[in-house]
Amino acid sequence: MLEEYRSLAAACGDGPVGRLLALILADEEVHHLQLLTMAKWLREGQGVGTRADVELAGVDRERLLERTRVLKHHEEETADACRSLQASLDSERAAPFRAMLEAMVHDSRKHYDLLSAIERLASAAGLK
Ligand SMILES: [Fe+2]
Repeated sequence: MLEEYRSLAAACGDGPVGRLLALILADEEVHHLQLLTMAKWLREGQGVGTRADVELAGVDRERLLERTRVLKHHEEETADACRSLQASLDSERAAPFRAMLEAMVHDSRKHYDLLSAIERLASAAGLK
């Protein structure tokens, strides 16, 4: 799939379509790295949510939780700002921007969800 995106992006040049394909390619490359990382964690028995108490030993969990909540709030603000900007763009020429802003909303949602997972792990670690 990476190669397909790479060759399509290269074939479409530097216009809006090529740029959108280049953005997808950049995300796909990150996804590839994430899959490799998750496979490594699973092989090593890490990252399955059972060792947060050990991994967070020595970490100020209250500060971690507080900063996590602040970051979640920023992610919500980012998504709201993208939605507002989307609503202000209405011409056909703005279609690539609307698509990019929608992708940013999804990214903020993804970051929010990952921060929620961190919040749950940090909270659970604090209970032990
Ligand atoms: Fe983010």
